[in-house]
Amino acid sequence: MGIIKGIKGVKDILPEETPRWHVIEDAARRWASCYGYQEIRIPIFELTALFARSIGATTDIVEKEMYTFPDRDGTSLTLRPEGTAGTVRAFIEHNRAADPLPQKFFYLGPMFRHERPQAGRLRQFHQFGAESFGTSDSRADVEVIALLWHLLSSLSLPDLTLEINSLGSSGDRAAYKPILFAFLSGQASRLCANCRRRMETNPLRVLDCKVPDCRAATESAPRLIDHLSPEARIHFDQVLAGLVSIGIPYRLNHRLVRGLDYYCLTSFEITSNHLGAQNAVGAGGRYDGLVEALGGPSVPAVGFALGLERVSLMLPQALLPSAREGLYYVAAFGENGAKLGLVLLDELRRAGISAQCDYRAITLKAHLRQADRLKCRFAILLGDDEAARGSVILRDLDSKAQEVYPLAGLSSVLKSRTCSS
Ligand code: HAM
Repeated sequence: MGIIKGIKGVKDILPEETPRWHVIEDAARRWASCYGYQEIRIPIFELTALFARSIGATTDIVEKEMYTFPDRDGTSLTLRPEGTAGTVRAFIEHNRAADPLPQKFFYLGPMFRHERPQAGRLRQFHQFGAESFGTSDSRADVEVIALLWHLLSSLSLPDLTLEINSLGSSGDRAAYKPILFAFLSGQASRLCANCRRRMETNPLRVLDCKVPDCRAATESAPRLIDHLSPEARIHFDQVLAGLVSIGIPYRLNHRLVRGLDYYCLTSFEITSNHLGAQNAVGAGGRYDGLVEALGGPSVPAVGFALGLERVSLMLPQALLPSAREGLYYVAAFGENGAKLGLVLLDELRRAGISAQCDYRAITLKAHLRQADRLKCRFAILLGDDEAARGSVILRDLDSKAQEVYPLAGLSSVLKSRTCSS
């Protein structure tokens, strides 16, 4: 029988890699709390209808990327491809709009999309997302962008660019779509097959197609940004002015359309040249109509999500904690030494001191080799002689200096050493 392997595009995060994930997740939590966002934990699977209605039935995500399966009673369920839909569903279901607004949530966790796996693009990936409900003021847009920008900058990610666009109101888009469609119809022979199809269902998506011929064909396309209503234009100008006032540089990108249908007004992406084809580190925008579209009251909202794998790919080595795994190694050997060693290990750990031992080692030499492999800072030598004397030898594994300590009360002595070092 062959071995069973993991699924393509679904990765293990091994112990060597988890420290970099902790650095990113800790920073995300810190920044979120600094901006007043509270953690929400939403389910990993939901009714399929939730995603179809929010992300949009004609988007790539809903059309071809969702992991959808029937429940035992036939109900269609889907592994969440993103976190906004579930957060909005929870917001409505728990009648949060009845509580004082604004309310701001963040989440961290796995998402699932059946995409073609490559560097930075997985089928199970992780997002940190932030969603702010209840504020239509442009300063809420600036706030979520600032949270994302400062978080990424604090992680020293290289070459970040904030790209921003306005998608206008739904009315603006309804008025613009026939104008764009008329232009695209004249260019249809130059567009890829996918864009020729999307032209009918979701013409805006043609604008952010990456195929060079499509880009050339749409170079002189009428721009949504030139067809904004006065209110949408004012909102966009206020967002841009807000970004300038807090020193966040941006690049206008009139092609930035986003692959999810719930957006209106501000939409943005933070990209980096270091990521190759999958260059978006994080992205988001305003989605004022979504709460209502999912059956809730009319509540404006804005948010973003960040791809943790992409951040991890770019995280500088210098930000990682040193690889000192265990602080103390208990080298307990000999019949009595081994017995007292078991008790000492238990005492140390209960006192909150990191202590390791390889129970297979029966000689001091074997113990010291393990202490080295585990990158311990100190070894506590406890053989039968030490056991008889009621003492231990504390050995500094860097300097090789040794000191004798009484075995009784050792955990409190080491605890005070650990705290003061
Ligand atoms: P999104 O642009 O689909 O937006 O995803 C946000 C981020 O998730 C991307 O910029 C990327 O870093 C990461 N990501 C997406 N797909 C993959 C993948 N297959 N593998 C690795 N990373 C990936 C959303 O999901 C929206 N819910 C964001 C949002 C929140 N808008 C408002 N609030």
